[in-house]
Amino acid sequence: MDSRSGDRISLKTPDEVARLRAACRVVAEVLAELQAAVSPGITTLELDRLAEAGARRRRAEPAFLGYHGYPASLCASVNEEVVHGIPSASRVLREGDIIGLDFGVVLDGFYGDAAITLPVGAVSDEARRLLEVTRGALEAAVSEACPDRRVGDLGAAVQRHVESSGFAVVRDFVGHGIGRRLHEPPQIPNFGTPGTGPRLRAGMALAIEPMVNLGRCEVDTREDGWTAYTVDGRLSAHFEHTVLVTENGPEILTLHPSARDGAWG
Ligand code: MF3
Ligand code: CO
Repeated sequence: MDSRSGDRISLKTPDEVARLRAACRVVAEVLAELQAAVSPGITTLELDRLAEAGARRRRAEPAFLGYHGYPASLCASVNEEVVHGIPSASRVLREGDIIGLDFGVVLDGFYGDAAITLPVGAVSDEARRLLEVTRGALEAAVSEACPDRRVGDLGAAVQRHVESSGFAVVRDFVGHGIGRRLHEPPQIPNFGTPGTGPRLRAGMALAIEPMVNLGRCEVDTREDGWTAYTVDGRLSAHFEHTVLVTENGPEILTLHPSARDGAWG
């Protein structure tokens, strides 16, 4: 957090919302292209190249490349990897894997950020259930992104959804405000107490991103300094949307234009 903006949560003007919307649309379109490319045999580095090219073709810049030294455009986290998996030519996707794709861009001064976790071919029943529960946790939190709700309501919604399904919420990473910077206040934990934390207002933009583990909640970081993985080695999933709080409720800015049901396919 830098001193210019302090801990204030920025409220976007209509002009800023238009620019945020454009950035988020690029993110949604590129993630849809990646989704179509995910299949057994592709490497995570190939997905990274597609992501970078997809951004640049739309006159946007990949947001993660060089961010605190991150060496790629895409985060590609396979199976027990939670987030921030570094794409690699030696990581070949295989049938039965699950892969988290987290991607962000900056366009005309505004950031968009979203993530999906996908099955590679046919996956186990428990993997499929983990993806469903994590996507459902994101939807539950998004539905709380209304004026006069509090940040703790979002975390509580995620936690309730996940723990009632028998899975565990990752506590070491949080969602965030977004706008002229990738990470703005407030931090948005995926657990919490209803009725606590900063109050939401129309014009706030939030990147809500539950990370859910099949087993225990503990995670650690690999030698590469980035890749977070589950300590018990079991599967983890991650979904993220950039959401605008409006007078009429939440508007998901990173929803692909062709998606009508309000969720990632
Ligand atoms: N969605 C992730 C986040 O908000 C992506 C950041 S990856 C990084 O933290 F490489 F840019 F750090
Ligand atoms: Co994010």
